[in-house]
Amino acid sequence: MTSTQTRASATPQLAFPPGFVWGSATAAYQIEGAATEDGRGPSIWDTFSHTPGRIVDGTTGDHACDHYHRLDEDLDLIADLGLGAYRFSIAWPRIVPSGSGAANPAGLDFYRRLVDGLLERGVTPVATLYHWDLPQPLQDAGGWTNRETAHHFAEYAHIVGTALGDRVPMWTTLNEPWCSAFLGHASGVHAPGVTDNEAALTAAHHLLLAHGLGTAALRSALPGEASVAITLNLAVVRAASDSAADRDAARHVDGLANRLFLDPVLSGRYPADLLDDLRHITDWSFVRTGDESIINAPIDQLGVNYYSPTLVAAPTDELRARVAGGWVNDPQAAEGPTPYPGTDLALSIPQAGPYTAMNWRVEAPSLTELLLRVHRDHPDLPLMITENGAAFDDVVAADGAVDDLDRLDYLRDHVAAVHAAIEQGVDVRGYFVWSLLDNFEWAWGLSKRFGIVHVDFATGRRTLKRSAHWYREVVADNGW
Ligand code: FCB
Repeated sequence: MTSTQTRASATPQLAFPPGFVWGSATAAYQIEGAATEDGRGPSIWDTFSHTPGRIVDGTTGDHACDHYHRLDEDLDLIADLGLGAYRFSIAWPRIVPSGSGAANPAGLDFYRRLVDGLLERGVTPVATLYHWDLPQPLQDAGGWTNRETAHHFAEYAHIVGTALGDRVPMWTTLNEPWCSAFLGHASGVHAPGVTDNEAALTAAHHLLLAHGLGTAALRSALPGEASVAITLNLAVVRAASDSAADRDAARHVDGLANRLFLDPVLSGRYPADLLDDLRHITDWSFVRTGDESIINAPIDQLGVNYYSPTLVAAPTDELRARVAGGWVNDPQAAEGPTPYPGTDLALSIPQAGPYTAMNWRVEAPSLTELLLRVHRDHPDLPLMITENGAAFDDVVAADGAVDDLDRLDYLRDHVAAVHAAIEQGVDVRGYFVWSLLDNFEWAWGLSKRFGIVHVDFATGRRTLKRSAHWYREVVADNGW
């Protein structure tokens, strides 16, 4: 008997509230392929992935899952799983290939077909406007370090809201601005590959400004009942010890990972302690009077992406030598700079296993802890788990089956962690598995598989893994 069978029989029944949304999530660059078709312009991820040495396995998103050409097949897959909702992202470079100016009708048509196909199958479309694929012409003008990019984002949001607003009820402005800012501009392991702490903090602010301006632009185009959100990858940050120095390190990282985003979005001000921590890097003069109230535009819910907790310590020479780059979850961690400006104050340190194939610690109760914390700080805010999932080194049997018990365990324990939060009064409205399909996992290329559906990248063939069969039952039963 496998461990899962043992545990499944021991798992108590879990019923989710009526109307709880079950979905799966993807992102445009990770699945679409068709990188140069129908007028799509280049994005920073095309440039980055085509730069030798940037992607661990040398792959690009040129073809990825070829979802652009397999749209109907993938829509049928979503319907076959019985999903209530599907979270996808819209490729800005398909809609406004030059980053500003006229829209590309062929780009809009693709997402119309996607949205209509979902609606025909009874699946609610959940659209994300920015999942990291900035049009390259905007990067050439400074990208997120240029304030103008936030205004261009609002123009793009208005175009998409006008075109699809009558049929998409749920919108997300940005996916994980922490990654765009800090993996993109501090550690440089994501596009555009910059390593400049001040640029990273500037980018973070302009991303947040884009969220505020984009929310207003969306609202002006959408019907009143549409829901607008931002998706943040919030962190559970723990201090390595009870020492004052380690606790202060945890405060600093919590500031960078969580409060830098939560506070202006939900309370209209940046956290004072973090501004102080980072004055040796920037004078924050890019934050203009009035910006924080723009960023504080009311949202209808908060999207939360969650994978793994973070352990931090105050730096010592011994520790620095041990954790090299200061951050253990990056492909180039050993050589590269950290994504945390101010790591003179804090280091991320290795944690005990079990780990996923990303080396991310598996610890489901930390998701309950995170949801309780957000609820405590913002009790009236509805939450949606917009991503949660795990990469494992799947084994494909001779008959094509993938018996991914480790992923199934991860998902079940995290779904149960969401349920535990709901039982303690947190208003969580839905859960989206990352990801529907194995796909292009950014700096890791095609080498890390997060899908509940296996993709053979040579043939494009899709095969439901055991976790997908399990998830279909959970969705059908609204729990287990
Ligand atoms: C998140 C991203 C998503 C995917 C997962 C594993 O940070 O939003 O695109 O890469 O991690």
